[in-house]
Amino acid sequence: MIDSHINWEEKLLFSALEKPTPITLQEMHTFGKAANGETRLAVAKFLHSELPVRLAQRVRDLNRLPFGLSTMSSIIEVKECYERSYKRIMSMSCPHTASDEERFRQLVTEIKKQDSHDQAMISQALQELMLTTRGLNSGGINSSMGRSMSMGQDWDFSKFLDNFYMSRISIRMLMGHYIAIKDKVPGRVGIINDNLKPIDVVKQAAHDAGGLCSYYYGNQPEVRIEGDQDFSLQYVQAHMYYIVFELLKNSMRATCEFNEQAESLPPIYVAIAKGDDDICIKISDRGGGIPRKGLDRLWTYSFTTARPAHTKSAMEASVDSEKAVMAGFGHGLPLSRLYARYWGGDVNMTSMENFGTYAFVHLHHLGKATEQLPE
Ligand SMILES: Nc1ncnc2c1ncn2[C@@H]1O[C@H](COP(=O)(O)OP(=O)(O)OP(=O)(O)O)[C@@H](O)[C@H]1O
Ligand SMILES: [Mg+2]
Repeated sequence: MIDSHINWEEKLLFSALEKPTPITLQEMHTFGKAANGETRLAVAKFLHSELPVRLAQRVRDLNRLPFGLSTMSSIIEVKECYERSYKRIMSMSCPHTASDEERFRQLVTEIKKQDSHDQAMISQALQELMLTTRGLNSGGINSSMGRSMSMGQDWDFSKFLDNFYMSRISIRMLMGHYIAIKDKVPGRVGIINDNLKPIDVVKQAAHDAGGLCSYYYGNQPEVRIEGDQDFSLQYVQAHMYYIVFELLKNSMRATCEFNEQAESLPPIYVAIAKGDDDICIKISDRGGGIPRKGLDRLWTYSFTTARPAHTKSAMEASVDSEKAVMAGFGHGLPLSRLYARYWGGDVNMTSMENFGTYAFVHLHHLGKATEQLPE
């Protein structure tokens, strides 16, 4: 029950002032592996104090949106979702016994489920926010232009979205891992895979992106995989899959559109290599590339060159949504980069105009990676 006598506004403000505690993938793995009643209780206690801080900071950021954007009805709705989750956790006292822990896990499960339902609404609100901000900003929204919005104010829209989404990834990671550590699944600890083979992720992503590509274009380029195909690492499969899937969708789309008149489609090459500190996945296509002056824009949340036919259901597309679209939201690249950066990795793109594009994904091995959280 949420206590209506509490001054939630004040409580939220105080929680938002606290510093979040970043944890390492190794810690998550170690705690998950030993997950007996005692360690689960320890994780529950940690989440009970940590989740409210991260949720409160999102509410604070939405409240701070400039130009009256924080009073947009869709933004208020998103804010209310976060507030609700915050209040539900804060209304439950810190778990001390096994049955407290059980109740807390149920609550976290419900909050995560609700968050998945809210995802379409969050995407829509942020899309609306983007369009509104574009109106304020004569030249569109991107990291450089966002800094020089009209009205002479400095406000970096891309940074806001980076922070918002990064925090969302972190909140969902904490909740998802905690829920999953209860079930012992061979080869997995919580949502961390013990021996994740990048080649398997690439094959699955190529299969899924290829299916979408055939649906939209009636054809799909072959994906050829080279390099070290055998190694495995401890990593979060869902994160690696998201990145590779988004990059392959982009490469397939570019390949089909650039080679529309050609008799056959040039293949996409995926190279996989293992380094001492990180792994690298390189995706090269011959989809016509991107002009050098346009490379920076790739990382902005509103930049897309998708045709309207491909954007129809883009508003519904989302980080966790099962409804995939080929392109159209302009979120694929910036979000992929956030997923990589969250564990200290990165995504970089380089291109040869009128030829093709090269995407480099660097991901840290487990143990060396600490959550990267918004400031
Ligand atoms: N491999 C590529 N070759 C050529 N252009 C590309 C490539 N990858 C991305 N782009 C360009 O960058 C834009 C932004 O890509 P991004 O993945 O962020 O968004 P999108 O594909 O348009 O939509 P979605 O959010 O559904 O992924 C694309 O619309 C396209 O113009
Ligand atoms: Mg894309």
